[in-house]
Amino acid sequence: MSILLEVTGLTRRFGGITAVDDVSFTVGEGSACAVIGPNGAGKTTLLDLVTGFTTPDEGTVRLDGQDVTGLAPHRLPAKGLLRTFQSARLVPLLSVRDNVMLGAHRFTRAGFLSDGLRLPRTRREERALRARADALLDFLGLHPFAERPAAELPAGAQRLVEVARGLAGGPRILLLDEPAAGLDDTETAELADALRAVHAEGIALVLIEHNMDLVAGVSERILVLDAGRVLADGPPDAVRNDPAVIEAYLGAAA
Ligand SMILES: Nc1ncnc2c1ncn2[C@@H]1O[C@H](COP(=O)(O)OP(=O)(O)OP(=O)(O)O)[C@@H](O)[C@H]1O
Ligand SMILES: [Mg+2]
Repeated sequence: MSILLEVTGLTRRFGGITAVDDVSFTVGEGSACAVIGPNGAGKTTLLDLVTGFTTPDEGTVRLDGQDVTGLAPHRLPAKGLLRTFQSARLVPLLSVRDNVMLGAHRFTRAGFLSDGLRLPRTRREERALRARADALLDFLGLHPFAERPAAELPAGAQRLVEVARGLAGGPRILLLDEPAAGLDDTETAELADALRAVHAEGIALVLIEHNMDLVAGVSERILVLDAGRVLADGPPDAVRNDPAVIEAYLGAAA
């Protein structure tokens, strides 16, 4: 399996805190990897570093062999790297379909002038985006909600809309920050099904998650962070039984 994402020696300090401390890992093309760790372990900061939302003090991020360290976040979707956020960032009053179409915006070539004038090219592009959005809504079982304002959906469905919006950008790798936060068991199971389906399409996943059932059900590999450092990295069973991991979690719970 060829390496799609390669992170080497990533470090980010905030004042006296080293939020991410010399972290290295790789994600293979089409593979699914989870990042777990206690609160404050540095998971979101790591994802922010990989997706350009935070600049590292040290280290590099390579996508498909190309150095993308410090590249602005809006440059990365065109390279196939997309993310979702720890708190949902849907546009509440826009319909579910329109929210998903926003995720596909990079595929439009018409400028704002032709948008404003509604030239034929704009209308053609809009139809294509709409068809693409509808196909994704079907794929994730969201089609019944297509016309509804995003804010009216239950939490689980909103999470799926976020996934759909990420997929609309045509990712080769999708990074998700705690997508099951606030979901009940049924919603979490639906999300797991959706993520497995995404993975089956050959899209690589990096899943930040506390819910171990979701992690084990979706990922082939788990990276454990603790106080910014890599504590363990391996297949789910090995990581779950790793004494250092058990200790970090018990320590966090105590
Ligand atoms: N912008 C910031 N300024 C200062 N400190 C920060 C900033 N972002 C994160 N930190 C600190 O860095 C550490 C790692 O935070 P981070 O949000 O990455 O953890 P996390 O593993 O995502 O936690 P959680 O599970 O609670 O989401 C924490 O100590 C946090 O307080
Ligand atoms: Mg976080």
